[in-house]
Amino acid sequence: TGYVTLDPGFVNTASCTSAITYIDGDAGILRYRGYPIEELAERSSFVEVAYLLIYGELPTSAQLEDFEGRIREHTLLHEDFKAFFSGFPRDAHPMAVLSSAVSALSTFYQDSLDPSDPDQVDISSIRLISKLPTIAAYAYKTSIGQPLLYPDNSLGYIENFLRMSFGLPTVPYEIDPEIARVLDMLFVLHADHEQNCSTSTVRMVGSSQANLFSSVSAGVNALFGPLHGGANQAVLEMLERIHQNGDDVDGFVRRVKAKEPGVKLMGFGHRVYRNYDPRAAVVKKATREVLDRLGKPDPLLDLAMRLEEVALNDDYFVERKLYPNVDFYTGVIYKAMGFPTNAFTVLFALGRLPGWIAQWREMMADPALKIGRPRQVYTGSPERHYTGIEKR
Ligand code: CMC
Repeated sequence: TGYVTLDPGFVNTASCTSAITYIDGDAGILRYRGYPIEELAERSSFVEVAYLLIYGELPTSAQLEDFEGRIREHTLLHEDFKAFFSGFPRDAHPMAVLSSAVSALSTFYQDSLDPSDPDQVDISSIRLISKLPTIAAYAYKTSIGQPLLYPDNSLGYIENFLRMSFGLPTVPYEIDPEIARVLDMLFVLHADHEQNCSTSTVRMVGSSQANLFSSVSAGVNALFGPLHGGANQAVLEMLERIHQNGDDVDGFVRRVKAKEPGVKLMGFGHRVYRNYDPRAAVVKKATREVLDRLGKPDPLLDLAMRLEEVALNDDYFVERKLYPNVDFYTGVIYKAMGFPTNAFTVLFALGRLPGWIAQWREMMADPALKIGRPRQVYTGSPERHYTGIEKR
């Protein structure tokens, strides 16, 4: 006690040791468990990466089969859970529905809430991975008034999610394997990012020995904000506004540089990357491929590329080392895939889930674990004495 270090925003404070994700922000390097993100994006799959993050090693084919089998077993939601979705206003933001639903898992799965029981932790991890796509699809279907589709466990993880989101009971849903591949890859890119705002939140909540569902639900809420996961929605809304105003890229960049209140170049900048976000480079390439594949050219992609070019050649952004981050191009892809703008951050959450779980489990297994409890520097009044209300 006595001496504390003030570090607003934790710019320079490590909250833990971790063996999961490595970032070199100056060099633009990201690795999960030592594997470069580019290799995982190109060659691995989301479920395999989830295994890697949580258990520390790439699975053998038997381990992967077992893991996939366990995930498949738990994709259904309890029937009573359906009422949950219709209980919210139709126009509720899906992130608010998602965090509430994840929180509600603690009420349905009371047999797996003990953080100190490895079996319970494992089954709650599997339940989260299995059920999150079902929850996300149900939230979306309810918001547009369409019937809910049960998961089809003959399908892969991503295919199942696409079908539950876009399929109808009366019409056979044809999965475009290229779309499924790209969505899978986007989830891989989002799967972990060391001690970002939502992951730190998950750890903080878990440090009080709160259960995994409660901790992850807090993470979803942290991700909701526009400076974090909500940026993918904010980017698309920004691009649409600029487009509606006649594509005046230079005018918009001038407003950003003048720091007009509320005007930022969304999808740019990062606390750790002072270089091109390696995830953004992969997404940028995929965006062009998806739009070509779907034959859906989108003026917003050209607009985003012009914005990027202008910004990367402008002193304001160069001096501050502001580069596109992962959220800059993802919205254009999600839009082309047919997701509504307010669902974009839910997709980020589906991708980030294995990272939250892996980080929470790593923390729980750490013998040095202590409850998260930052100190403060008090700036309030010195001691003074109570006065009766008649004298104030
Ligand atoms: N547009 C304009 N100026 C910016 C931006 C931006 N997007 N980002 C940072 N700056 C400026 C900022 O105003 C400050 O300028 P000055 O030195 O004159 O005061 C300087 O750059 C440093 O920025 P900072 O706000 O101190 O940096 P930070 O590390 O605290 O914030 C950030 C990081 C990601 C919150 C911020 O860059 C930002 O708000 N970006 C836009 C939102 C966004 O795209 N978020 C997604 C982040 S990546 C994925 C994720 O985490 O979900």
